[in-house]
Amino acid sequence: MKIIKLSAIDSTNSFLKEMAENSVIDNFTTVVAERQTKGRGQMNSKWVSEEGKNLTFSTFVRFESLLFEQHRYLSFAVALSVFEAVKSLGINRLTIKWPNDIMSGNKKIGGILIENSLSRNLIVSSIIGIGLNVNQDFFTEELPNATSIRNIIGQEISKEKVFQLILERLQSNIKLLNKKEEDILETRYLNNLYKKNIPSMFKTMEGKLFMGKIIGVSQEGKLQLELEDETLKEFDLKEVSFA
Ligand code: BTN
Repeated sequence: MKIIKLSAIDSTNSFLKEMAENSVIDNFTTVVAERQTKGRGQMNSKWVSEEGKNLTFSTFVRFESLLFEQHRYLSFAVALSVFEAVKSLGINRLTIKWPNDIMSGNKKIGGILIENSLSRNLIVSSIIGIGLNVNQDFFTEELPNATSIRNIIGQEISKEKVFQLILERLQSNIKLLNKKEEDILETRYLNNLYKKNIPSMFKTMEGKLFMGKIIGVSQEGKLQLELEDETLKEFDLKEVSFA
């Protein structure tokens, strides 16, 4: 696996995307940066990470026959890779918040941005961007719901070790995906889903509050909620958040 280490870049996802557009690159080529000046998050948000303390990297993965309809399994595979790697460090109370935030209790420690390249109904390749708070010990009030592995275990940990653990898990989970063993990924993902089956308050994008509980993820990757009147409703990422 080719690993490119950079001291600073706008975004490892953008860098790798450009590389893949301009040359033929090996499967699992990975770009890791000490600092991102324009780290990107889901839904056009920013990803802010203290220089040198955390992991910010992107991995290029090519697929032979991954249907667009299977995109949720790719998301499961990636979230599980980060989740399993962090969990193997002995960290408890870890969950995956739909679609793919890595949580410790109610605080976020990692985020994932997957950018797919499509041809007809196939995902030809993906840029998998991972940001994980490893050794950052202070978070401004701009990020009240963020924490790091260091803050959970009370001591610094080798970023390189965590990086290697995630890359190993990623290779093995992508292998499962390519072998069409999606059921394994789905079961593991749902077993570790944040607030699954727990009545919680949600908020629509219009600001409307309602109670519901997460019961699963639909074929299209939407969040399935059971409302108080026991009706089922599906939401995509733009439509709902925890209140
Ligand atoms: C999110 O939680 O909104 C997703 C955050 C993804 C951040 C990572 S950091 C490495 C890669 N490069 C980026 O610009 N973003 C992803």
